[in-house]
Amino acid sequence: MCGIIGAASSRNVGKLLIQGLHKMEYRGYDSAGIALHQKDHVTRLRALGKVQALEDLMIEHKPKSKLGIAHTRWATHGKPSEANAHPHASNEQIYIVHNGIIENYKELTKKLKDSGYQFASQTDSELIAHLIHHHYKNNDLLCAMQSATKELEGAYAIAAVDLNHKDQLVIARYKSPLLIGVGIEENFAASDPLALAQLTSNFVFLEDGDTAVVKKDSYEIFDAKSKSVNRDVTHLDIETSSVTKGEFSHFMEKEIFEQPQSASNTLESRLGSNDVLDNIFGLGSSEIFAKTKRIQFVACGTSLHAGKVGRFWFEEIAGIPCYVDFASEYRYRNPLVEDGTLFVTISQSGETADTLAALRYARDKDYLSTLSICNVPTSSLARESDHVLFTNAGPEIGVASTKAFTTQLVSLLLLAMSIAKSQDKNPIMREAITKELKDLPAAIDESLDTKTAIQKITPAIAEKNNALFLGRGIFFPIVQEGALKLKEISYIHAEAYPAGELKHGPLALVDDSIPIVALSPENDLTEKLISNLEEVKARGGTLYVFGEGQDQFTIDSGSYIGMPKCNKFIAPIIYTIPLQILAYYVACHRGTDLDQPRNLAKSVTVE
Ligand code: G6P
Repeated sequence: MCGIIGAASSRNVGKLLIQGLHKMEYRGYDSAGIALHQKDHVTRLRALGKVQALEDLMIEHKPKSKLGIAHTRWATHGKPSEANAHPHASNEQIYIVHNGIIENYKELTKKLKDSGYQFASQTDSELIAHLIHHHYKNNDLLCAMQSATKELEGAYAIAAVDLNHKDQLVIARYKSPLLIGVGIEENFAASDPLALAQLTSNFVFLEDGDTAVVKKDSYEIFDAKSKSVNRDVTHLDIETSSVTKGEFSHFMEKEIFEQPQSASNTLESRLGSNDVLDNIFGLGSSEIFAKTKRIQFVACGTSLHAGKVGRFWFEEIAGIPCYVDFASEYRYRNPLVEDGTLFVTISQSGETADTLAALRYARDKDYLSTLSICNVPTSSLARESDHVLFTNAGPEIGVASTKAFTTQLVSLLLLAMSIAKSQDKNPIMREAITKELKDLPAAIDESLDTKTAIQKITPAIAEKNNALFLGRGIFFPIVQEGALKLKEISYIHAEAYPAGELKHGPLALVDDSIPIVALSPENDLTEKLISNLEEVKARGGTLYVFGEGQDQFTIDSGSYIGMPKCNKFIAPIIYTIPLQILAYYVACHRGTDLDQPRNLAKSVTVE
């Protein structure tokens, strides 16, 4: 998974392309490259490492051009290296950038090698350049692209330039996001509108099978049958301030501290005085909810943890059972779909390949309907689901998800309430949750005050190589999310366990080398959790406990960090905050590149 961008303009495009790549580094950042048309040749620059390394090369070489393509990479086939970085070229004639995976690359590579093409990389993408070259006749790059893509199996967003045309890009999309940005005397192509936020607010989203020719003053789109088609122009005001760090040191820090506002944005226009408003999931959703007997959640990573938290709420608030599955597993099962099951995907980006594939797979099954909880309105997931609720978190740039997670939780509460409302269940509980949700932004704000106490415990945790996270009930998926955060950005191995399971194995790990982080909110399980923590204490474990009643528990080694008193339904959201802060400061202490941790990417658009 990678980010691609292209530009045809009446001004120099080098800087614009590099700016766009910086905005798409969340899609991958192990190498980057650019190809710029220069009348009689194409200049290609590629660099291992982040986009900054490519930018440094550009400063050194200063190439000028009005037509170009560029790429930031997250390695799938072939290790990160300059040779494997895009753009890939064929015979110094065709240059391409690609996001996706070509599944039939072995057959196609063999065929192309047999016809004499020489490969310079270990990627599956290079063959696209040769295949286009193979089909290139009569100076017609579009036709060559259309013939080449007919042979490709897998997923692709491609942008290509050829030596014979200094004024046009040709692009193609299948199962990987791609759009045209419409400017004045310039047009662009990119994987994400964010990449073009400073250049235009008008976007045309390509559909699967589309190809297009993009020139500075025109563009033309062709469908899968190569027929010229019109696609709507969408106007999107992407706030450019939301893609800068402002006064914060990292995007992750900014996004953690934005959570009172992002939660409030999720709730806006969705709550009445005593209940959730009707049809917030779109017209007709209330009728679907009235018939919903079960929920199947499918998601990946942090979004999966949100589904696991949601399960508790759906059982309690809506009185319906839920199943929660990894998208990458679900799509290869043959699930038995029970009558009245609503299929729900959860995704920040709406482009995660496994989640999208699971949705497409589910569409052919007997689900009541499909619904997505998603942060990106223009995403494939949002467009392909019957019903959508946007989390309204705003752009999330830090690879480790924070505000997207808490807004997903808010959205899940709204969904559980909406289903309960459509089935006339638990009106008093719904009224209580409405009140709790109205207090949520202020309660998140208060929980951010744990920052100072957390900074004090950071050095002790940062020097360890392992950590154990404990929680019970609905707080178990919250500690799973806390452990994931710590792993992702500090590279400390962290494992989450339901505290009652300790005695069945992990207790054997307890000694002074493994910090144990536990969530101890006031609820029906507090006493049981405290007994579990006593077992840890008795074995000399170092405990870092977040809770509301220190008087119940003394700590010999470690610390107790007081949390604000919070109500039952919003408590899992509130207790998420200190775990995000903890991971953040531990990673800062260890000096990792925490907005872009090694080997990861924000949006995983490959299987
Ligand atoms: C990647 C990101 C995670 C994210 C997961 C699912 O692994 O690094 O932060 O939770 O993808 O992404 P989605 O956009 O579907 O929520």
